[in-house]
Amino acid sequence: MKATWIQPDGSQTTLDVTAGTSLMEAATTRSVSGIIGECGGNLSCATCHVFVDPAWFAKTGEVGGFEGQMLDLAEADREPTSRLSCQIRMTAALDGIVLRVPEV
Ligand code: FES
Repeated sequence: MKATWIQPDGSQTTLDVTAGTSLMEAATTRSVSGIIGECGGNLSCATCHVFVDPAWFAKTGEVGGFEGQMLDLAEADREPTSRLSCQIRMTAALDGIVLRVPEV
């Protein structure tokens, strides 16, 4: 399954992502710029913030209550399709998902 990250300068990285892998893990293990994942996916850093392409946002599921609080603290301003990518796990339904990396 594939996921694409779009950088603030418009450059794109598309990676194969195994089902069950978080999109933060997929990005950090292959050095996608701007995705840090400092807390290792424990919902305590917000350095995995992404803007989900609006066409895909509904498929990523609900923003958790604590995730929402962390998004409010993220370095880049929260947008309507903001998510913490450690909270999104790849599934067949997300094959082809597009994410924008915030400018920080
Ligand atoms: S990796 Fe820290 S909140 Fe997602």
